[in-house]
Amino acid sequence: MAHDPAIETVGRVRIASLADRLDAIDTIAQWHWEVWGDEDPIGPATAWAARLRERANRMAIPATYIAITEDGELVGTASLIAEDLASRHDLSPWLAGVYVIPAWRGRGVGSALTRHAVAEAAAMGTRRLYLHTEHARALYERLGWRAIATDHRQGHDLVVMTIETGAGS
Ligand SMILES: CC(C)(COP(=O)(O)OP(=O)(O)OC[C@H]1O[C@@H](n2cnc3c(N)ncnc32)[C@H](O)[C@@H]1OP(=O)(O)O)[C@@H](O)C(=O)NCCC(=O)NCCS
Repeated sequence: MAHDPAIETVGRVRIASLADRLDAIDTIAQWHWEVWGDEDPIGPATAWAARLRERANRMAIPATYIAITEDGELVGTASLIAEDLASRHDLSPWLAGVYVIPAWRGRGVGSALTRHAVAEAAAMGTRRLYLHTEHARALYERLGWRAIATDHRQGHDLVVMTIETGAGS
C-alpha cells in the first residue's frame, strides 16, 4: 500500500502538521530556543516562534511536523526548510529542528518524525534532502542518511548528511 504520510503512527503517537496546532507554537519555540539558541542565535524564544509561524505550510517548504500523543500532548517536532547552514547555500532543502521532549526519547518518535518528513519531501517532489547534526549521526545513519561533509557553527562541530527521498524513482 502507498505510504500515506498524513497518518503515520508510532505506538500511541501520530504525526501531524504544525498547521493543525498553531496554538502550540510558543511551546515549541521555547523547546527549540533552549536546545539551539546558542548555536543559532536568531534572538529570544519569541524570534523562534515567529520563524516557526513561517514554517507551518502543509504542502510546501518550509513545513513543520509535530508528534502528538492520543491525549493531545505534543512530544516532538521536525521541519523542512530551504536553508539551514550559512556556509552551505549550495545545499537545499534541509531537515531541521528534529526534537523530542526528554520523557519521550528512545521510543522511536524522532525516527518517525524523520521518516515522515522525508516522505513529505518526496511527496512534494524533492529528490534529495540534507541535514546537519552535532550528536545524532548514528540515529540518521540507521534511517538511511549518509555523511557527506563536516562543518562548524558557533563553535559546534557538525556533520552534514544527505538522503535520497525516493521522489521520481
Ligand atoms: C535526537 C532526538 C531527536 C532523538 O529522538 P528519539 O525519539 O529519542 O529518537 P528514537 O527513539 O527514534 O531513536 C533513538 C536514537 O536516537 C539517538 N539519540 C537519542 N538521544 C540522543 C541524544 N540526546 N543525542 C544524540 N542522539 C540521541 C540514539 O542513536 C538513539 O539510539 P539508541 O536508542 O540505540 O540509543 C532526541 O534525543 C532529541 O530531541 N534530542 C535533542 C535535540 C537534538 O539533538 N536533535 C537532533 C538535531 S539533528
